[in-house]
Amino acid sequence: MQWQGRCPACGNWNSFEEIALSKTVQASRAPSGNRSLTQGSTAILSLAEVKVEDTVRWPTGSVELDRALGGGLVPGAVVLIGGDPGIGKSTLTLQVVSAIAEQRRAVYVTGEESAAQVAARAQRLDLALAPIRVLAETNLEAIFDLISKDRPQVVVIDSIQTLYSDAYSSAPGSVVQVRECAADLIRYAKANGVSVLIVGHVTKEGTIAGPRVLEHLVDTVIYFEGEAGSSIRIIRALKNRFGASNEIGVFSMTENGLRAVANPSVLFLHNTQSLSAGNVVFPAIEGSRPLLVQIQALVDRTAGNPRRVCNGVDAQRLAMLLAVMNRHLGSQLSGFDVFVNVVGGISVDEPAADLAIIAAIWSSLTGRVLPSQQVLFGEIGLGGEIRPVVGAAIRIGEAEKLGFESVICGDLGKTLRTRAGLKLQTAARVDAAIELLRA
Ligand code: TYD
Ligand code: MG
Repeated sequence: MQWQGRCPACGNWNSFEEIALSKTVQASRAPSGNRSLTQGSTAILSLAEVKVEDTVRWPTGSVELDRALGGGLVPGAVVLIGGDPGIGKSTLTLQVVSAIAEQRRAVYVTGEESAAQVAARAQRLDLALAPIRVLAETNLEAIFDLISKDRPQVVVIDSIQTLYSDAYSSAPGSVVQVRECAADLIRYAKANGVSVLIVGHVTKEGTIAGPRVLEHLVDTVIYFEGEAGSSIRIIRALKNRFGASNEIGVFSMTENGLRAVANPSVLFLHNTQSLSAGNVVFPAIEGSRPLLVQIQALVDRTAGNPRRVCNGVDAQRLAMLLAVMNRHLGSQLSGFDVFVNVVGGISVDEPAADLAIIAAIWSSLTGRVLPSQQVLFGEIGLGGEIRPVVGAAIRIGEAEKLGFESVICGDLGKTLRTRAGLKLQTAARVDAAIELLRA
């Protein structure tokens, strides 16, 4: 093999691994069954000839997880559950195995913790121990050996980073092991109509060895979001072959594990009765539901190179909004550090948050406290124009439902009438919107 220092694909140095294939590769491949999701056809067909079947769903016992999955687990489909260590992946999957075990055969394969540790956790979670079946094993071939006899319908792998296959000499957690073990699990799932949940840790630095390498292989990718200091946990479907992506589920981490949060909007609003400068409320839409979140900014005189730090919003987007503020609002921010944070550890990726982010920065810069019972939304273009956003009626409706009194947003067209009890103010441009804040 030729020496390769730098990966031509990702540009990283010394990231190559030599893979030694052993003779047992073929023998160790995932056992196959007689059921195939892909129908096994190699003929060219007209779509009219293809039989369309309703997707079967197995509820997970968790309404919030089912929502993120698009209704439940799908036989033959593989779900990746990713997130930082300690965020709740094992807790959630153990709760799921417990709920599912009432109806179908499930196995929780643990590579991170011993069976005794899993039992202790289940006890802490107040789960019935008898129905939960656990396998403490990290060797892929041994796992296949056992589950091909046991024939479970649902298999949880916690976590993919602990698995290794005899076919490869590299260490567990290496890119090769992670990718190849997952590929074998996916083949197994498809061939046998088994639903497989793969837990994967996201590595903070390069996510290269982490579950990211699996995203394109699996059917559904769910990531945990949340802050270390907060009990709120959000799961978000980043990709879903069997449902809408970006759908979220909201939990709170309690002493008894993850509990669904029925009315998440209230959760993210912290003390909005009395906001200080730099705080605004943004009516977000996550998946199909509205969620009121608090965005805060702190603008502070810089001691060197101005810093732009954001948590929960995109850094590029923030840079663009600062340029818009400079050009269209005349805000001189070059001498200031700008920090933007979304309270509660949730990420807001919608451009609809632009106006709220700018308002928060403006509020901190000028020291003007914005009305606490007001929400703002609108996408902002480079020319300073405020663009219409999706779901304006849903956002306004949620704000109204939670007792907010006024809304500032872009032009709403004729579709929305002024509602009783809610003051609607629209602005075509960002400077006009800021004028409304000044008033
Ligand atoms: P865990 O599910 O082990 O995280 P992961 O598998 O993603 O690494 O979650 C561990 C954290 O959750 C740990 O900090 C303790 C906390 N926790 C609770 O607060 N309540 C509980 O009932 C459990 C089981 C864990
Ligand atoms: Mg874990």
